Amino acid sequence: MKIAMVGSGYVGLVSGACFADFGHDVVCIDKDPAKIESLQAGIMPIYEPGLAELVGSNVKAGRLTFTTDLASGIDGAAAIFIAVGTPSRRGDGHADLSFVHAVAREVGENLRQPAVIVTKSTVPVGTGDEVERILRDANPGVKFAVASNPEFLREGAAIADFKRPDRIVIGTEDEWARQVMSEVYRPLFLNKAPLLFTSRRSSELIKYAANAFLAVKITFINEMADLCEKVGADVQDISRGIGMDGRIGSKFLHAGPGYGGSCFPKDTLALLKTAEDYEAPTRIIEAVVKVNDARKRAMGRKVIEALGGTDAARGKKAALLGLTFKPNTDDMRDAPSIAVAQTLTDAGVSVAAYDPEGMDLAKPLMPEVAMQPNAYAAIEGADVVVIVTEWDAFRALDLDRIKAIARTPVLVDLRNVYDPAEARAKGFAYSSVGRV
Ligand code: UDX
Repeated sequence: MKIAMVGSGYVGLVSGACFADFGHDVVCIDKDPAKIESLQAGIMPIYEPGLAELVGSNVKAGRLTFTTDLASGIDGAAAIFIAVGTPSRRGDGHADLSFVHAVAREVGENLRQPAVIVTKSTVPVGTGDEVERILRDANPGVKFAVASNPEFLREGAAIADFKRPDRIVIGTEDEWARQVMSEVYRPLFLNKAPLLFTSRRSSELIKYAANAFLAVKITFINEMADLCEKVGADVQDISRGIGMDGRIGSKFLHAGPGYGGSCFPKDTLALLKTAEDYEAPTRIIEAVVKVNDARKRAMGRKVIEALGGTDAARGKKAALLGLTFKPNTDDMRDAPSIAVAQTLTDAGVSVAAYDPEGMDLAKPLMPEVAMQPNAYAAIEGADVVVIVTEWDAFRALDLDRIKAIARTPVLVDLRNVYDPAEARAKGFAYSSVGRV
């Protein structure tokens, strides 16, 4: 089957490469010529483990091509995916659908064969209806159906998530579209990945509800962590103790500096806007957004506390280890490190940092931070070492070496990577999240 993927960003590229790996004939389309040229040269625009290899092998096999020309790219495709960005609209938090609508128009103007148009971009409820209207206006003669097929990929594990999904959600009321989509996902279907067919609107909402629910879970355990610190309990025990209850589940109960990234912050805001528009307020999500925003700055204050408070902290040096919103990505969008660095520099603390992949993107977001070539260079002369992102490389740091090169052995572990007793036995003043 020929598949066209319009938008070769994170979602489009991973999905396109995986579909090609299933044996489909895939064309990835993007209007950015620099991106397409570098993809043709085998250079990935993003860091995602395994992606370069997957793209390379499928290009070599002749199943995956790249183009800036939408008309030729969609020619003969039975399924045309829209996987362009839906950023938060400046000012009101609504998802900006201008890219989705523009693609729908262009697809409509150029479609010559019957095709299922599939929105993979995260789009508010009702977008499929609008996409259908735009296509119909642009091309009243051709047979098409519009389906919703949200993605649930985690950055850093996107290929595994695509190939071994918990579920595939397909929203359509059209029988022909169901058949085409079943064919698209047949290799996973054969592997018994659950295929959930719903209405298009339900499918659109499932994506937001899933991300919002996960954001609730994280924020819940983060607040429990704060309470643990006050009452002398251990949040990791709380996570285990509640997570063993099958109704709760053990995942997404790691306390930390707050969620960030390209999805949770944007999608929770967009869901709030939809709920407001339909006069069905979602107060839980409102609270989650506020609590998470405040938490990121609070983590900066936690570091200042570890330095002895506001007065003592002025003029001291902090070393931040990890800047990306989570490990195994170079993505800096809404990363807690940004607020932590800002809070520290505002308090007169000088900040050095190291991240295995994120420093290029981090630099413009935190101009006052001195980026260093490795963790130990950042730690040299520091008064506090802060683990902000749990990259594997920071899980087994040489604590003796840190003690020797830091000015004072103070460790603030915002991801609970180290054992408090061990760190203290090594002579560190150690603090973490939700453990005393
Ligand atoms: C998320 C969803 O998981 C994915 O299904 C969706 O399609 C896109 O958004 P992603 O943003 O890549 O994926 O990362 P994820 O692993 O979900 O982590 C999001 C944020 O939550 C990170 O900042 C992470 O550090 C934080 N997090 C996650 C916690 O603080 N604690 C947890 O237990 C889990």
